[in-house]
Amino acid sequence: MSRSPSLPFDLSGIRLQPGRGLARQLYQALRERILDGRLGGGARLPASRELATRLGISRNTVTRALDQLYAEGYVAGRVGDGTYVAELPRSRPTPSPTVTPAALDPALQRLQAHHLPLPPSGAPRAFRIGVPAFDLFPFETWARLQARFWRKPAAERLGYGDPAGDPRLRELIAAYLRNSRGLACEAHQVLITCGSQQAISLCARLLVQPGERVAVENPGYRAAGHAFAVAGAQLCGVAVDGEGLDVTALQRLENCRLAYVTPAHQYPTGVTLSLPRRLALLEWAKRVNGWIVEDDYDGEYRYSGTPLAPLAALDEQQRVIYVGTFGKLAFPALRLGYLLLPPALAERFARRQALEMRHSEVGAQAVMAEFIAAGHFQRHVRRMRQAARSRRDALLAAWPKAIRGCSPLPAVEAGLHLSIRVESLARERELIGAARAAGIEMNPLSDYWLPGSEPAEDARAGLVLGFAAVPEAQIVEALQRLRQAWKL
Ligand SMILES: Cc1ncc(COP(=O)(O)O)c(C=O)c1O
Repeated sequence: MSRSPSLPFDLSGIRLQPGRGLARQLYQALRERILDGRLGGGARLPASRELATRLGISRNTVTRALDQLYAEGYVAGRVGDGTYVAELPRSRPTPSPTVTPAALDPALQRLQAHHLPLPPSGAPRAFRIGVPAFDLFPFETWARLQARFWRKPAAERLGYGDPAGDPRLRELIAAYLRNSRGLACEAHQVLITCGSQQAISLCARLLVQPGERVAVENPGYRAAGHAFAVAGAQLCGVAVDGEGLDVTALQRLENCRLAYVTPAHQYPTGVTLSLPRRLALLEWAKRVNGWIVEDDYDGEYRYSGTPLAPLAALDEQQRVIYVGTFGKLAFPALRLGYLLLPPALAERFARRQALEMRHSEVGAQAVMAEFIAAGHFQRHVRRMRQAARSRRDALLAAWPKAIRGCSPLPAVEAGLHLSIRVESLARERELIGAARAAGIEMNPLSDYWLPGSEPAEDARAGLVLGFAAVPEAQIVEALQRLRQAWKL
């Protein structure tokens, strides 16, 4: 190491802020100067006592900073001879620039701009939205099937599997969709995903180029909108009325080739997309040579009214990508969902899935396959539908009749939640604040609109309530508390 003891040791510019980890600040300031060459290799550091005096900090703090620099090889010491800046290789790493939002790449900037609040966690409470009656899940059966699978797993299942998912599960899902949803489909069109969200993200990454327009329902499922926005899409909110998505408004949108919709039970309004609108939507996709992502997240839950065939069942042009999830039938934490893809897309999606995560975890897929094959799934679906209906009835029967500024409860023919209009944002805030203070969950309808879009603020106000999360007695008890909280 060549020594340059005569060089004055320049501490100018080092400003340490009290109370914020002085040793760390000093370490960072010295490291930055060593890396950018302001402190050249061989420069001798002043003694720790002197450094402490010049910087106005304790000697202990200096020692801690120097110890760290020493441990990482930025300085070297010789017994009795002080501490020197180490000779770093010529192609030394440049210090990472301070990352400002402007310096982030566009994808990261989009991620920051589309921050998605997480759904509530913890044990379900009245009236949590988005969760089914998972207190009814047959965990004993599931545990037995799990144990059977893991006790002696076939060796060929423990390596890398098909990126599209467990072949048996795909067969069984295809058969289920043929029988219960009227979809003419084959197993090779099914791709197993880690829940609907991953399925929607795959669609966003594979079907959208940055800058392209994507139509989403407004109000709508914000997590889907976020996935498209993060993939670079320009979101276009399309209004929803009593018949579902306003397809005429969609047809007027120029340069838009992808629409994300929830036709069975619009999220969050609960409207079902009418048959004429379904046909018009399919016609739109054909005309623009585009895609429809049909999210059938809670399609199994229909209590009355005519069940309409999914768009994918009416799709003669192979333009619909159907998204399904086990999250609303079993429980969300299972993270098991699927895509039913037009045959022309199946290979591309499987390749992308392989790139992103190889494939979903083998155990849950194998156990779900056995769960379906042994008839447990169909039984469970029937039970869940009955339970959700009876929980809906408990809510409808005990809901307070006249709440100032609130529309009456709508007819609830499907799904796991309902929404009620409220006269103004101020009243929405007041009702939700009082409910939350009483330990009752409900979501503001105003949260589901795209920022900066129509309609005027007060027209967005409302309450969204899930009714399936807890048993009837808890619903009744929560409504009693709500009456007190709302002073009814
Ligand atoms: C509209 C919609 N789609 C999909 C899902 C389910 O998502 P996942 O399967 O990723 O849990 C939800 C859950 O709340 C939802 O509301």
